[in-house]
Amino acid sequence: ADGDAAAGENVFKKCKACHMVGDGAKNRVGPQLNGIIDNEIASVEDFRYSKPFLALKEEGFVWDVENLSTYLENPKKMIKGTKMAFAGLKKEEDRADVIAYLATFE
Ligand code: HEM
Repeated sequence: ADGDAAAGENVFKKCKACHMVGDGAKNRVGPQLNGIIDNEIASVEDFRYSKPFLALKEEGFVWDVENLSTYLENPKKMIKGTKMAFAGLKKEEDRADVIAYLATFE
């Protein structure tokens, strides 16, 4: 990604109501997000994902910089029925930055 991870830490404030990332991150309303980039969708143990998420997992869907940006722009448009109740990040730069931030956590 060509995003700015430091700027992305600030963007991530919008995600913190539901997500944790980093050392000791736990599931909240949403799953913890360590190692999300280049990982298979719906891989966090003990998190109850939506049916469309589990269906994509069956197909072997993997998050990458490009499809994660599409999801974050408008989650319910890309994955009908996702339970991530978030309107989306409309600015391309915000998406690139938050993805760069997430990429710093293994
Ligand atoms: C799922 C990122 C905001 C709730 C996910 C996933 C990612 C993500 C990458 C997929 C996780 C996986 O496959 O294991 C983000 C980012 C956010 C954000 C970067 C901010 C820009 C939110 C907010 C909420 C939320 C505000 C709650 C209101 C959820 C839930 C899921 C999810 C419930 C599981 C979706 C499902 O099973 O359909 N999020 N999220 N997220 N997120 Fe978010």
